[in-house]
Amino acid sequence: MNEAAVRSDDGGSAGLEQAGMRVARGAVDTTHGPILYLDGITVSFDGFKALSNLSLTIDDGELRCIIGPNGAGKTTMMDVITGKTRPDAGSAFFGQTIDLTQMTEAEIAHAGIGRKFQKPTVFERHSVFENLELAMKADKRVRKTVSARLGLADMDRIAETLALIQLSAVSDRMAGSLSHGQKQWLEIGMLLMQEPRLLLLDEPVAGMTDDETMRTAELCQSLAGRHSVVVVEHDMDFIASIARKVTVLHEGSVLAEGPMDVVQADPRVIEVYLGR
Ligand SMILES: Nc1ncnc2c1ncn2[C@@H]1O[C@H](COP(=O)(O)OP(=O)(O)OP(=O)(O)O)[C@@H](O)[C@H]1O
Ligand SMILES: [Mg+2]
Repeated sequence: MNEAAVRSDDGGSAGLEQAGMRVARGAVDTTHGPILYLDGITVSFDGFKALSNLSLTIDDGELRCIIGPNGAGKTTMMDVITGKTRPDAGSAFFGQTIDLTQMTEAEIAHAGIGRKFQKPTVFERHSVFENLELAMKADKRVRKTVSARLGLADMDRIAETLALIQLSAVSDRMAGSLSHGQKQWLEIGMLLMQEPRLLLLDEPVAGMTDDETMRTAELCQSLAGRHSVVVVEHDMDFIASIARKVTVLHEGSVLAEGPMDVVQADPRVIEVYLGR
């Protein structure tokens, strides 16, 4: 499914109704463990293993950075988590009980996993505020209020998100007139309106200015705790500025994992990635 299709189907609620709404949002059970659990995931494309026995867990509220050379499997991993690609082997659980390998992309989005693609897909001819409003109304739980005017609680949520993504001052501007970085933040804001438990950001600072990159680092840090966030990036200054635990992928599996300074000093990581 392409990005436009993902956006146009309202976060997937139509498909979900057909599927009998197997997963209620908010039902993610993390009481005894991580929010995301990947175990032994293998994905082959014509015999080539893009992911090879990949095992990884993300704690609830964690901010995890994933790095690794081109072709390491970072994006493929996000494709598996979001249901875009089915693994040939292995398990993928959201919380204790939600088996991601059995769900459609729409069901996974509804269950509370939001994904930011590299190219921003905002509604260019609507204002910043309206983009957030539309994203909120795409959420099935507020569907009944679509025709009604925004309530106070809705206005508060939008204002809160505008402040978080640092776009309060431009809320009346057409999204199409924003800078590349501002569009990226708006798209993150649109994901936030759906209250995801887990956010996946694939190369969020690509093409950003240094100032925009720094603000994105602040945003990622403020999201952690309220949400679990997985960030894939090649910009090592950015990673170093936000890193808590870092996972290095190489040839489809985990090469190293730990605090940034430990990972950076690991000779295997230097050889395959950082030393290039
Ligand atoms: N649909 C596909 N068909 C065939 N091969 C694919 C497909 N998707 C990914 N691959 C291959 O799988 C490997 C992993 O790709 P992936 O995009 O996950 O890497 P990545 O770590 O995200 O790299 P980058 O840092 O360049 O974004 C690559 O060799 C890629 O060519
Ligand atoms: Mg990639």
